[in-house]
Amino acid sequence: MRSIGIALCCLLLFSVAAFGQSDPRATGTTVTFYRDVLPILQAKCQSCHRPGEVAPMSFLVYQTTRPWAKAMKAAVIERKMPPGSLDPRYGHFIENFSLLQSEIDTIAKWADGGAIEGDAKDAPPPVQWVEGWRSNPDVVIEAPPFDVPAKGWVENMIVVLPNPFKKDTWVTSIEIRPGVPAVMHHAGVRFARHIDGVKYGQFFWSDIKRDEAGVHIAEQPRPQRVTFCSDDRGKVCPAPETDVIPDGAGAGFEGFYRPGGAPLDYAYYKTAYLIPANTDMVLSLHWTPIGKPVTDVTKIGFVVAKQEPQRQLSMRSLKPRGNDGWSDRERWRIPAGDPNWEAPPKDVIFNMDTELAVMSLHMHEHGKDMKYMLMYPDGKVETILNQPHYDFNWQMTYNLVKTLKIPKGTKLRVMSHFDNSPNNKFARDPRRDVFGGEQSWEEMDAPWIGLILDRGVDPRNVYTENPGDEATFWSQKPSN
Ligand code: HEC
Repeated sequence: MRSIGIALCCLLLFSVAAFGQSDPRATGTTVTFYRDVLPILQAKCQSCHRPGEVAPMSFLVYQTTRPWAKAMKAAVIERKMPPGSLDPRYGHFIENFSLLQSEIDTIAKWADGGAIEGDAKDAPPPVQWVEGWRSNPDVVIEAPPFDVPAKGWVENMIVVLPNPFKKDTWVTSIEIRPGVPAVMHHAGVRFARHIDGVKYGQFFWSDIKRDEAGVHIAEQPRPQRVTFCSDDRGKVCPAPETDVIPDGAGAGFEGFYRPGGAPLDYAYYKTAYLIPANTDMVLSLHWTPIGKPVTDVTKIGFVVAKQEPQRQLSMRSLKPRGNDGWSDRERWRIPAGDPNWEAPPKDVIFNMDTELAVMSLHMHEHGKDMKYMLMYPDGKVETILNQPHYDFNWQMTYNLVKTLKIPKGTKLRVMSHFDNSPNNKFARDPRRDVFGGEQSWEEMDAPWIGLILDRGVDPRNVYTENPGDEATFWSQKPSN
């Protein structure tokens, strides 16, 4: 009986599909690939779903998309795809792949209606994707090759390369392209004062003591960022914050690669980033073994600004409250089994008028959600970004279509939650507490913001981080 039922249903479906195909506009509700679905794929999917990009299948043409119709419906309804979708109620972002409900409905209807091709004349012109790069770099630098082992872990690697620019240079984009995206956990570029005798092209790392599960042994002090020791250039020492160029380097990284993320286009905001002469380029590269050995060659591309900007975009990373941010093992500890641990807030009060252009999220495998809120000087509270389903594989940077004006005295609070319970399929061992660290099974709690500042303003003076009393910071009393 059952199999007849299925056969009948499929026959019916088939006939509807066949009918639709012969005349896609026979009814106003027939959904076709070319007319209805392709525009959505171009805007929200092809950036990853095309040859050479991260996704395993291409949605450029009907033939390769058609077999995925049912899976597409399921993925968009569950909001698994596109990855990194935000709560649509807050913020308007460029290159935000989040689908509107109407777009989800269209994909679902298309799949249900037999994934009809329709008339190619209805198709929008194909998008001219740039092979290999998302920006259009003027200068490309290659990092030395790195052999990623099949198993185990690789500590965060630091390598210094000569600054490709001999004089002060404004750039509008810094794009990092891993040779083998599957092994790249993240990569960052920053610039630091040149030190004579610096060893270029050599990998350095902190030798962290770990147990057999890869968990950092607590007795060992947390390793810091490393740089070259001033007394012996052949060795590495902890990097003092002062060795990093202060202009925008609070975040440490002006160019940053995370899976799925696109490079920042500073030009969109009529800003650029200054790479000062007499600096070295410091790369921070973190690879993750994928079960087979591979050699990665990472490339860094720079788009040089056409003209000097009036204003600068400064990327800053925010730190949770506590003595040492997410490295504070007392305050920043996700208890074993906790399905919804609330991390200490990331608080900021702005000391001058500024503009917010960019917000970004960074957590690891236990990351669950993150929310950005502003409290204006009159006490009015506004949510400006909400990511209710954080996915470690998709660490997006969200660029506001229109910058947000932030008056002096405004407060920013970022809240995040973590899941260290068996509900989280990424949690490797929910029986153990989780602390901050560089590896995916350790945690980070690092929202980033991009502020637009007049040239010459020291980004460090723009706001005060985690000021005053945590308990009263967010009380709705007008601040002065
Ligand atoms: C930022 C990159 C990115 C974007 C944008 C993106 N995808 Fe994907 N998609 C991936 C990757 C990578 C995979 C394979 C790994 C995975 O399943 O997470 C994937 C897998 C899928 C799968 C297979 C899922 C499964 O259950 O096997 C479907 C279906 C899919 N995507 C549909 C879409 C649709 C539809 C869109 C646009 C509305 C979209 N994706 C946008 C990166 C992306």
